[in-house]
Amino acid sequence: MKAEIIAQLRCADVVSGERLSQALGVSRVAVWKHIRQMQELGYKIEAGSKGYRLRSAPDTPFPWVFGQHADQVHYYPEISSTMDVAMDLARQGCPAFTIVVADRQTKGRGRLQRTWQSMLGGLYFTMVLRPRMPLVLAPLINLAAAVDLAIILEALYGIQARLKWPNDVLVEDRKLAGILSQMAAETDRIDYVNLGIGVNVHNDTRQVQPPAVSVCQLTDRPVSRADILAHFWERFEQRLRAGRWTDVVPQWKAQAATLGRLVKVQTLYDVFEGRAVDVEENGGLILEKEDGRRLTVVYGDCFHQ
Ligand code: BTN
Repeated sequence: MKAEIIAQLRCADVVSGERLSQALGVSRVAVWKHIRQMQELGYKIEAGSKGYRLRSAPDTPFPWVFGQHADQVHYYPEISSTMDVAMDLARQGCPAFTIVVADRQTKGRGRLQRTWQSMLGGLYFTMVLRPRMPLVLAPLINLAAAVDLAIILEALYGIQARLKWPNDVLVEDRKLAGILSQMAAETDRIDYVNLGIGVNVHNDTRQVQPPAVSVCQLTDRPVSRADILAHFWERFEQRLRAGRWTDVVPQWKAQAATLGRLVKVQTLYDVFEGRAVDVEENGGLILEKEDGRRLTVVYGDCFHQ
């Protein structure tokens, strides 16, 4: 209903209550109740003698913003972590491309059990994926997500981001977005991969460590969290359905900030240092030590030296 009201209001400057009630097949009182709810949710809708006028819409990723995909979106104004809810949904057998999205997280988390600050204004979501791919290639999902996020941020806002292995999106070494995934698998069959993405959009990043930057600091264009999610979703779903995994590493390398740099990679148990020289076809980072020996790291957090 709300999606239809928005669509109608976007088609004309002013839309009468009569026209809305006919288009929606409900009474004018019911239309008015929906309009009131939407005003409370941040939609600036003026009610005048000729009808309703949409002045502005919030950028909140409400389910109805995603049209025919609305049923797949679980939106929360506040949540502990979108990863927790997504895990419950995935275990209960929800379909692929179910999305959990929140305006704020009280226990947002990053890789290696770090906290992910999740204040109002950022975009925080987890997408449940059920890819049919060999388990060994699963790390490519994160790399692919980083590539697609960078591509859509450039297309929407002209931001030229680079990628830090495995999947941070950076602008001038400041973090614009981070990606965390959780997977469940049996022998060689992936049950689900929950892909969690946090993007700094309008949130204040001044106190965030390591140094961070937000989309709205990098562009003059109007910025919308819902648009970022919708564009990422469309592109990433197409990529997963096409399943061309051999494309991922070359695309990632074309945008990499890590290759050629001296890095330290921290895993849960070890720290590896060396020059990042290449990425393997399964996404592992190849480090060259001072003595010329090479080793591959498949998981961890990377620090550019
Ligand atoms: C990292 O860079 O360490 C990964 C950060 C991932 C943050 C996102 S925000 C949405 C989802 N929910 C979480 O608690 N974490 C991920």
